[in-house]
Amino acid sequence: MTHSDQIEVHPAWLPAAAFRALGSRRVLVRGEGQLVDTVTGEIEQACARYGGSRRRQRQGEAGADLDGSRYELVLALTRAHPLPSAAVGVVERGALGDEGFALTRRDGATAVLADEPAGLLYGLFHVARLGEAAFAGSRPVERHLPATPLRMLDHWDNIDAHPVMGQVERGYSGGSIFWEDGALREDLARVRAYGRLLAACGINRVAINNVNVHASEAHLLTDRLGDVIAIADALRPYGIRVHLSVNFASPIALGGLPTADPLDAQVRAWWEETTRRVYESVPDFGGYVVKADSEGQPGPFAYDRTHADGANLLADALAPFGGIVHWRAFVYDHRQDWRDRSTDRARAAYDHFAPLDGQFRENAILQVKYGPIDFQVREPVSPVIAAMPSTRLAVEFQVTQEYTGQQRHVCYLGPLWSEVLGFRPWGPEESTVAQIAVASGGGLVAVSNVGNDPFWTGHPMAQANLYAFGRLAWDPQLDPTAVLDEWIDLTFQPAADSGGAKLRDTLHAMMDESWLVYEQYTAPLGVGFMVHPADHYGPSVDGYEYTQWGTYHFADRDGVGVDRTQASGTAFTGQYPKAWSEAYESLEQCPDELLLFFHHVPYTHLLRSGSTVIQHIYDTHFAGAERAAEMRRAWEEVEPGGLVTPALYARVRERLDEQVRCAQEWRDQINAYFFRKSGVPDERGRRIY
Ligand code: GCU
Repeated sequence: MTHSDQIEVHPAWLPAAAFRALGSRRVLVRGEGQLVDTVTGEIEQACARYGGSRRRQRQGEAGADLDGSRYELVLALTRAHPLPSAAVGVVERGALGDEGFALTRRDGATAVLADEPAGLLYGLFHVARLGEAAFAGSRPVERHLPATPLRMLDHWDNIDAHPVMGQVERGYSGGSIFWEDGALREDLARVRAYGRLLAACGINRVAINNVNVHASEAHLLTDRLGDVIAIADALRPYGIRVHLSVNFASPIALGGLPTADPLDAQVRAWWEETTRRVYESVPDFGGYVVKADSEGQPGPFAYDRTHADGANLLADALAPFGGIVHWRAFVYDHRQDWRDRSTDRARAAYDHFAPLDGQFRENAILQVKYGPIDFQVREPVSPVIAAMPSTRLAVEFQVTQEYTGQQRHVCYLGPLWSEVLGFRPWGPEESTVAQIAVASGGGLVAVSNVGNDPFWTGHPMAQANLYAFGRLAWDPQLDPTAVLDEWIDLTFQPAADSGGAKLRDTLHAMMDESWLVYEQYTAPLGVGFMVHPADHYGPSVDGYEYTQWGTYHFADRDGVGVDRTQASGTAFTGQYPKAWSEAYESLEQCPDELLLFFHHVPYTHLLRSGSTVIQHIYDTHFAGAERAAEMRRAWEEVEPGGLVTPALYARVRERLDEQVRCAQEWRDQINAYFFRKSGVPDERGRRIY
């Protein structure tokens, strides 16, 4: 970290004031272990700042202090013996698991109990979230357990800046927090601070390098293991385990073998030995992430092997050490012929993977993007999620806003993820996506949006997306608006200031529906893309129409949309269980917002909303651009200084100017394009170019 980083880095959702309430109390910490040391250190710092006091008691240490009534906050492991009185009888030992905690308050003392040190750490951050409320009245015992033990972020960071993708692929927040100028950063204080932020929202695993594993990054597995050790050391105090993206052809590139065939004995031996060395260096290493046979990355197809063969090769190498392989399902033909309307990219993941259900090892997780295409602002849920009941499935989200405004636009994604997590692929009474991912043992993964930008995420409001992903991974049932409120309270501490309520209202007004606003002014009704192919930013309606990428809208003078029905199209609808297969197949039942994903319809087609497709396009684009302008007007009323520093104010202001400009550009290009194609005028006679 450079000196200027040190003075400028924004504290995100952990400003010192987030610890004011607990830092002004008498606190007792009981237990041992590195994470208990972390908890103690946090409390020590908070007390030094806010005048409280802390006592640490280790196993076997007794004394008058043991009486919890002398403390206002007790954080103790259930195995601590004897328990402080505030904690006695609160929970049964062993019921809280590896990461859970219990919280209660009685007789003027708040107690956090955990079976394991990680639980105490999460409990500490929960107390910070509650602020003064943690010390008011009394509280019956609440148990907080994460929905899944696998709550992971993937970094798409490169060691060397890639000639096209830069240092962080699809990164909109500056360079990597791990590497600079082709080497690991000397000062990893910022990585440690990152781990702290992640623990405070519930993340516990990080894959540190890009899924497209280029030459230098491939070496992280072998001769650059030192980088992995250092990053793991920086993140470990916050309970975060490190994973690596690996190149499937590593036995050739790094091992000098003639093949990477997953069934070859030498290849298997190479992975076993290489993995053994990784664990020798990093005993709590999490495992591998693999993008194979996808967008040019090598994979098992070269050897006529299946993706189960490929994943199991790595799973077997990792198994003796308790490691996991995350094998990505993002496999499709990226050299498609746009003239060929029978090939459908949306079908690809299911076609490749569904037949392999039940063939993956116990420690292999299939990592599936939430939609069948690629992180668009609106897609149906991937049919793969319901198609593999005998496979561990992780659902993959994209916190980095590649297709949702690139951290130049306000676009709070909590509501999108929450909608996906709550979707029931088998029909109304059946399991949700979150329940399927959790029950399968797969968990949740997302692509991180963090870089070395002073605000971490470019747009300061994009911090809320990272926070929300962590919170939803911990508890997928949380209300995304309530999560946003938590983020606002922590980040801006609005309660402490008279202007707090107004600031909170302003942020909610700007952010609550910002995902839907973004959808309004970009590609309509689920059709997707329409972005510049080079950087995926800004409108280019036909940018992808005659390319190899399989992302088309098929607009002509009569209509628009992709026919994915079984009756007359690519039959993608048939990949869903009956309830949704029928709904998507039917023009009458298909939800409006996904109409053009599933159907090619005339511009005059009447939506369920009562509007025609063409009028809907005009209306939403005028409305969306106007709502972006409203966001800017709302922000202009915020007073810089106090809760919002001048630097943060200015950064948001500058980004809003760009959002307003870009939203107008989208509005005008989309409206002009469809007016020219269809010749249908806007009912309301607004200006179309
Ligand atoms: C998108 C993105 C790529 C990325 C890929 C992936 O296509 O544009 O940059 O590599 O997703 O998820 O692997």
